Amino acid sequence: MFEAIQKQPADKILALMQAFREDPRADKIDLGVGVYKNAEGMTPIMRAIKSAEKQLWEAETTKSYTGLAGDPGFSDAMISLVLGDAVPRANVAAAATPGGTGAVRQAFDMAKMANPDVRVFVSNPTWPNHLSILKHMKIETVTYRYFDDETRGVDFDGMMADLAQAGKGDLVLLHGCCHNPTGANLNLTQWQEVIDLLLKTGATAMIDIAYQGFGDGLDEDAAATRMVAAALPETLIAASCSKNFGIYRERTGLLMAVAGDPGAQALNQGTLSYLNRQNFSFPPDHGARLVTMVLTDPALRADWAAELEEVRLSMLGLREQLAGELQRLSGSDRFGFLAQHRGMFSRLGTTPELVETLRAEFGIYMVGDSRMNIAGLNKTTVPILAEAIVKAGV
Ligand code: LMR
Repeated sequence: MFEAIQKQPADKILALMQAFREDPRADKIDLGVGVYKNAEGMTPIMRAIKSAEKQLWEAETTKSYTGLAGDPGFSDAMISLVLGDAVPRANVAAAATPGGTGAVRQAFDMAKMANPDVRVFVSNPTWPNHLSILKHMKIETVTYRYFDDETRGVDFDGMMADLAQAGKGDLVLLHGCCHNPTGANLNLTQWQEVIDLLLKTGATAMIDIAYQGFGDGLDEDAAATRMVAAALPETLIAASCSKNFGIYRERTGLLMAVAGDPGAQALNQGTLSYLNRQNFSFPPDHGARLVTMVLTDPALRADWAAELEEVRLSMLGLREQLAGELQRLSGSDRFGFLAQHRGMFSRLGTTPELVETLRAEFGIYMVGDSRMNIAGLNKTTVPILAEAIVKAGV
């Protein structure tokens, strides 16, 4: 029977990761998949995670099941990290999921349960897997303008005009910080305008926050998510621990459903547990437990926050160095946006042909839409990239 299944397109980001592995050139540069790398090109295990893991190995006495929504201690710790005290804890339902992607998938599932005809508004562009999951779930997708190809910033007027078309029963997907794939973000005044618009239209907000701590700082990066959750009657939030805790393969994420009153919380909590049970039963626990230990132990937490800050500052430094090199080599300020963007990614804003030239002639791998993983660079490779960009005629 399986011959009836059509071949599915390969995920572009993962296909690029494979192509990079197979490229024999020693001087190749990987700016593809969104994984943090230090100056030596390693994706290290964070110090606090390693310590927690050692403690856990000694202390853990059972591998029996947790709850369907995962360990409540993990939910509490993550809700506090993402939402601070923006909303009462009693209004928030939460369930651990396999990674941020698991949370995204469950959020779409929940929206579809609430409204089988839900339309999901996504930024143009957005993380390609958002689109792929929505297509797989046969959910209608509507794109809203987001990236301005000229300024490489946000086309805010276009975004607002398009979001005005979303109404009650629709879901508006927003990136809480560090927009993937562009690196271009709203400021808080603009966020407030989006909130006012959503309040007016009655559309439901969903926030994907996968890079908290990679942009302007842990609280700064959560500020918009907190504003949205506090202002709107209901918000879905998919949070990932992959990047900011460096535990990619442990698959650790949390889906939060924030309601305007505690009455709705119990229903939402039941829905989230039900969805976990239908899709994979109990969520993975190992990564969640490490995150909980790190967030609840003051010494581990301080060490984690300090290391995350080093990571954030190193990416900012690389951005500034790259913008500076490009300014020097091209004699123009047109790459200044690279220093303004935030998070792991920047969209260079060039054609797929030039992206291919950079790969074929210079061994530089970036996603076809010209998304670069800034963390794939180091002080030595920044000038090499800058020279290639200018030589290729970007
Ligand atoms: C990315 O955008 O590269 C990351 O979120 C990794 C992934 O799963 O695509």
